Amino acid sequence: MSQRGRFISLEGGEGVGKSTQVKALADALRQRGLDVLVTREPGGSEGAEKIRELLLTGSDDRWSPESEALLFAAARADHVAKTIRPALEAGRWVLSDRFVDSSLAYQGGAGDLGIEAVRAINAVGIGEDFPDRTLVLSLDEGAERARARDADGSDRIGGRPDDYHRKVTAAFHIIAAAEPERVKLVDASGAPEQVTKRLLEALQDFLP
Ligand code: TYD
Repeated sequence: MSQRGRFISLEGGEGVGKSTQVKALADALRQRGLDVLVTREPGGSEGAEKIRELLLTGSDDRWSPESEALLFAAARADHVAKTIRPALEAGRWVLSDRFVDSSLAYQGGAGDLGIEAVRAINAVGIGEDFPDRTLVLSLDEGAERARARDADGSDRIGGRPDDYHRKVTAAFHIIAAAEPERVKLVDASGAPEQVTKRLLEALQDFLP
């Protein structure tokens, strides 16, 4: 039987260059001979992509904070069961553009439900399949918001006020401090190639 693959998630607030880095990191891992499945949240499976639409479109008050967190957790449960778990069991690496730490930071930290409450409602759907490593792209606050404002196509959550996004960033720092072995903050400033290099360094202990 093949050895279980590694599960890596990439996180960060809005406008930290995450999409570019997901692609670059996947390429770099493949160059090292790894079989990498790239996926994203909310989404990553047929059912979860349907729930994504419910979450990201419509008015800000379309869902209560509780129902929003539960919808993210429901999408995640389907994503884990249909996409992530089978890939890991087949020995593939999984690189997910966002995972549970986005819920902890957005719905838990910024949305006031609290990080621990959101962790609890996600536990059933995730089971043992927690990420082996979570890389949080971080910029200093001013730079992060400036880049976010430049990013087009703000959705239901991306379009929330600056204060909400400041709390998201703060929550990512709290999570990283609480779980230093799993969650690493990675400086997202500078040239994209430099950032990719830093991401790889933060995975050094897993690389063949
Ligand atoms: P997306 O278009 O994927 O944007 P990004 O490039 O920022 O990843 O939008 C996802 C939005 O949903 C983003 O604003 C973060 C938010 N989100 C949560 O609030 N909770 C979650 O659990 C996840 C996965 C995403």
